[in-house]
Amino acid sequence: MTTTAGVLALTSAEIQRVLEIEERTFPHPWTWADFEWLSQEECSLKLGLWQGENLVGYVIGTIGASVFHLANLAVDVPCQRQGSGGRLLRTALDRATELRCRSCRLEVRRSNRAALYLYQKSGFAVDGVRRRFYTKPVEDAWLLSRPLPAEPEPQPIMVYG
Ligand SMILES: CC(C)(COP(=O)(O)OP(=O)(O)OC[C@H]1O[C@@H](n2cnc3c(N)ncnc32)[C@H](O)[C@@H]1OP(=O)(O)O)[C@@H](O)C(=O)NCCC(=O)NCCS
Repeated sequence: MTTTAGVLALTSAEIQRVLEIEERTFPHPWTWADFEWLSQEECSLKLGLWQGENLVGYVIGTIGASVFHLANLAVDVPCQRQGSGGRLLRTALDRATELRCRSCRLEVRRSNRAALYLYQKSGFAVDGVRRRFYTKPVEDAWLLSRPLPAEPEPQPIMVYG
């Protein structure tokens, strides 16, 4: 059981907690099989943000030769709008930078205003649209990317009360 506050690598045993947040945050949540598939990727990055024993949110992606593909990011509903999504995103981008990625790419539902604001605030730009990329409901995806610096950027110190 995790008792530390902060961003830590997620273990397979913690995926059930991730699934519970998925159910609350996405109209078409990922399944156990989706996470199993991603975990088999040689270079998957899975980080969770903890407050004591509570998993607040997570970010998951794959590390390619020079590209970090951000596959999933979510913050549990009661914890949203408190800076956690931004913190998870910054930590993942820093980790990808340390692993020598030079850019980050992702897809986001066209209607997902909260995520679009977060990504645009975090330096992402729209590269294009992938028609009918999502199902349940069917929807286009914006394709977003941003370059990564040669070294991780300094992070602000976060204190939880
Ligand atoms: C997208 C998500 C991860 C953001 O997490 P969060 O912890 O609420 O984000 P933060 O508190 O760090 O907010 C950072 C910025 O994102 C934007 N933002 C976040 N939620 C927003 C909302 N509901 N409406 C508008 N802008 C929003 C704002 O620009 C915000 O900065 P500000 O608070 O200074 O205005 C969260 O809303 C979520 O889990 N949504 C459901 C899952 C999802 O859609 N994931 C994205 C998949 S691509």
